Amino acid sequence: MTQQLHDPAVRGFASDNAAGMHPEVLQALVTANGGHVASYGGDPYTQALTERLHEHFGPGTRSAVVLTGTGANVVALQALTRRWESVLASDQAHVLHDEAGGLEHVGGVKVTALPTVDGLVDPADVERAVRHADSPMRAPVGALTLTQSTELGTTYSVEQLRDLVRVSHGLGVRVHVDGARLSNAAVSLGVGLGEMTTALGVDAVSVGGTKNGGGFAEAVVVRGDGSAPGVARALARLVKPSMQQSSKTRFVSAQLLALFGTDLWQRTAAAANDAAALLAEAVTSAGARVTRPVQANGVFTELPPQVAERAAARVPFHVWDRHFSTTTVEARLVTSFDTTTADVEGFAQVLREEFARESAESVGA
Ligand SMILES: Cc1ncc(COP(=O)(O)O)c(C=O)c1O
Repeated sequence: MTQQLHDPAVRGFASDNAAGMHPEVLQALVTANGGHVASYGGDPYTQALTERLHEHFGPGTRSAVVLTGTGANVVALQALTRRWESVLASDQAHVLHDEAGGLEHVGGVKVTALPTVDGLVDPADVERAVRHADSPMRAPVGALTLTQSTELGTTYSVEQLRDLVRVSHGLGVRVHVDGARLSNAAVSLGVGLGEMTTALGVDAVSVGGTKNGGGFAEAVVVRGDGSAPGVARALARLVKPSMQQSSKTRFVSAQLLALFGTDLWQRTAAAANDAAALLAEAVTSAGARVTRPVQANGVFTELPPQVAERAAARVPFHVWDRHFSTTTVEARLVTSFDTTTADVEGFAQVLREEFARESAESVGA
């Protein structure tokens, strides 16, 4: 028997990746265990998942099950582009900063940053970048990737997404959504998963499960070859050479089925989003400024560096921007499906204590 090496009662705000699996997801793994089933996706769990994903994203879509969010993005964006093309991404994008150059390394596709406000890309900047790249000296743009919800905890409205898709398609550019936190965005906007992606013409979606109560479970959904020629065929061929094919696919699919085959994805996302709203209020009442609109499960706040350092030593969270101003940093707090009101109140108390300590020290100095 493996010994438990951590305290399961301790939670922080470092990331939704720091959380464990939702008990219903864990139970789905147990249920999927035992006996022999076909490997490499030929199993009944993957088949059932495919049907559920059709319900969410449309009957004409095609899907693949992958292991990581980076893998989902790399597979999806390879399916949408040719090797000599480039991908436009927000200047905050995970694919740009936090995937160790995976798309360039595995897909051979250049990534170009677009300016953002609160993590959101503007259609005018897409147009400008596509026109700028239209030269034999530059890599032409094959796809735009948008993160929903964004790295800064904001969400695109359905209208904004529709506009971005319209402008991109008008320029011959395909659109991908990095939906590592797609569920949080859907719940926040009160729309379905397909309503803000494939129904708007988004060509490929990375559908996150891991951050929303899964353990190692992501999917890629693309529009069928009828509407996006070659993409579905590319998806089917890219998972294995991109090293995202689990031989025992049933366990990845079972996790996604537990989430998206029921309303669990909505319950977990709603719990995380509600905790973030509560956290924003608590942080404000403790005397810190919330720096970004809180629209999903991330709260960004401005703190003096020493307050941030000392508070993070007590309750883990990350500093997002060390140079937010000459005297402050910007901290990122992420809530999860299992964040409690007591976690939020406890953190506000820690902040109060660290602000008081800082001001006592500055008076004494
Ligand atoms: C917006 C976004 N996209 C993609 C990923 C990739 O996830 P992974 O670490 O599983 O590759 C993350 C992970 O934090 C993320 O925040």
